[in-house]
Amino acid sequence: MKIGYFQFNPRFGELEENRKQLKKTLTNADADLIVLPELPVSGYFISTREEAEILAEPVPGPTTDILKAISSQTGTYFVTGLLETANGNLYNSAVLIGPEGPVSTYRKTHLFYEEKNFFTKGNNYGTFEIKGVKIGMLVCFDHLFPEAARTLAIMGAQIICHPSNLVLPEIAQLTTRVRALENRVFWVMSNRYGSETKGDKTHRYTGESQIIAPNGGIVHRAPPESDELYITDIEPKDALEKDITEFNNVFEDRRTDIYKM
Ligand code: ACM
Repeated sequence: MKIGYFQFNPRFGELEENRKQLKKTLTNADADLIVLPELPVSGYFISTREEAEILAEPVPGPTTDILKAISSQTGTYFVTGLLETANGNLYNSAVLIGPEGPVSTYRKTHLFYEEKNFFTKGNNYGTFEIKGVKIGMLVCFDHLFPEAARTLAIMGAQIICHPSNLVLPEIAQLTTRVRALENRVFWVMSNRYGSETKGDKTHRYTGESQIIAPNGGIVHRAPPESDELYITDIEPKDALEKDITEFNNVFEDRRTDIYKM
């Protein structure tokens, strides 16, 4: 299975320009699954709920329509971040889209910093089968909560798709390797680069998107500050093997009888 990510530097509030860049890059990509960063169309550094409302879109909507159209030509599935509006709420979402359109939406469950001022938390995890392989979705800061990835792995996820706008250097590059290793899953972290400034505050995004194997090894890591569409061939069955030794299994050896959750 060919999986990958597109790391780039979205322009804040430039919805059409960012959509154009996605369309141009993704139309000719040869992959089964491509993961895009968190909020790649709106940009990330939102100051107020009013600003977020202007940049939000529904699912299905203009961005998922573009990705659906590409998918129906190429067969590639996409996981994209999206500033979603639904039922009067705003969500920091990840959407899985294929030739049939949006397949599933995951709403970020652990909100970071000022996101708490305008986003509503999601309340669900799910896995979805594409091309015979189960995938799960998390968004950025979710990486710091081992329970989230563990839940997806227990639900059968073989590949965790992780749209991100990381601002704390090196942390997720480390944690996502550990999450992949402790759950024996593939991990695709698609992180943007560049910076966004509002008044006297600047967010610098760390790039270095990465694909991690179930043994925690780095299959590939992007540079910190350049566009990169990266696609690689993996064997998803490797993520079904949960034995560590002939005596040990990462799921069966868990001590749920004594853990505090
Ligand atoms: C983040 O959750 N965007 C750091």
